[in-house]
Amino acid sequence: MRTGIFGGTFDPIHKGHLLSAVKIKKAFNFDRIIFIPTGEPPHKIARRVTPSKDRLAMVRVAVSGYEGFEVSDIECNRKSYTYTFDTLTELHKNAAKDEEFYMIIGADTLADIFNWYRSEDVFKLCCFVAMRRPGADDETFASDFKKACDAGARVCLAEIPQYDVSSTQIREMIKNGCGAGEFLPAGVEDYIKKNDLYNTRKMTFEEICEDLKGLLSPRRYEHSVNVAEESARLAQMFGADIEKCRLAGILHDCAKELTAKQYLWLGIDNNEKCDYDAKQVLLHAEAGAILAKERYGVCDDEVLEAIRCHITGKPEMGIVTQMVFVADYTEKGRVGATYDAVRAKIAEGKLNEAMLEECDSTLIYNIKRGVSQICTQTVRTRNWITKEIKENE
Ligand SMILES: [Fe+2]
Ligand SMILES: [Fe+2]
Repeated sequence: MRTGIFGGTFDPIHKGHLLSAVKIKKAFNFDRIIFIPTGEPPHKIARRVTPSKDRLAMVRVAVSGYEGFEVSDIECNRKSYTYTFDTLTELHKNAAKDEEFYMIIGADTLADIFNWYRSEDVFKLCCFVAMRRPGADDETFASDFKKACDAGARVCLAEIPQYDVSSTQIREMIKNGCGAGEFLPAGVEDYIKKNDLYNTRKMTFEEICEDLKGLLSPRRYEHSVNVAEESARLAQMFGADIEKCRLAGILHDCAKELTAKQYLWLGIDNNEKCDYDAKQVLLHAEAGAILAKERYGVCDDEVLEAIRCHITGKPEMGIVTQMVFVADYTEKGRVGATYDAVRAKIAEGKLNEAMLEECDSTLIYNIKRGVSQICTQTVRTRNWITKEIKENE
C-alpha cells in the first residue's frame, strides 16, 4: 500500500493544492493521500494562523468527493509544536503491514529537511516526493537533491505545474474585499464567508488566552493571567484603560519561551543589540511586541509599548506601560519582600514610588548576581521617575 502525505498550513486550502495532489496520486500510483493540516507550525510563529479547527474543516470540505483523499487531524490535535517525526511515528503505528509513506514537499523544502527534528529517523520513516515546476532549471535544486540523497533521504521528483496563486495571496484578496472564489475548491469559499475568516486579524481576549496556552508553559501562562488581572486592577485604581491593560498584561511574556531560531524568524538576532548581560531576558519584551502585532493582530500603540517596555520601563512611558510594569511585580504569584515593598507603595496609592522601588530592586538584584554590565534602560527609567516624584512634591 502506497500512501502520500500532504502536510501544510492550508490557510486556506486552494485549488492548486488539490490539482497537485490529483496529479501526484496518479503519477505515483498512490492508494491514498492523507492531508494533514499543521497545528501550530513553529516557522509561522509570527503570523497568526487561522484556528486549526477552521483549516481542518476547509480541507475536509475541499477533498470530499475525491477518491482516496483523506484528512487527518493528528497535528491539529496536538497541543505542542508538531514535528514531522512525531506525525510519521504516529502514522506508522496505525499503518498497514506493507504500507509505504511518501511525504509530499515543495522542491524548496528539500534544502531544509536536514534541519528537521530527528531528520535521520524521518528519512527512514518515509520517502519524499519533491514537487517542482516543469522545466524549472536550477542548480540549487540539483545540489539540494544530491545532498538529500547523500544524507540518506529517498527522494522522487514530481514535475507539477505551479498554480498561480498562493494562500497568502488569497487571504489578501479576501481582506481587500475581492472574491477569491475562482481559486478555492467548492464549499471552501462558503465556509470562509460563513465564519468570517481573513477579514480581520483581531482575536478576542478569550481566543488569545486559548492560543497562549499552546505557546507558554503552564507556569508562565498562569503568571500571564495573573499579570492581566493585576494590570486591570491597577488600571481601575489609577484611571488607565482597563481593557488595554488587561490585554497588554496577558501578552507581556508571550515571547518568553521562544527558541533562538524563532527569534530569528521574528527578525531578532539573539546575539546582537546587547549592552548588558541579561540580553536574552530583555529580548523577550521586544519579541513579544512583534508577536502581539503579527500573531494577535494588536495594533494599539499603548498596548504594544507596554509589552515592549515591560521589563525596563522607559522615560515618559505611558500609563498602560506603567500598569503592566508594576503588575509584573505585584501579581499574586510573586512571593518575597521585594515584591511586598512595591505592593506597599501601591496600597498607599503611590504609583511613582512603587515604580521607583521596582527599578531599585531590579538594579540591586542584577548587581548582586554579579552582572558585569547594568541595563542602562532601567537606570534611565529610574532617573525619569525620580524627576517625576520631585516635580510632584
Ligand atoms: Fe517578562
Ligand atoms: Fe512577566
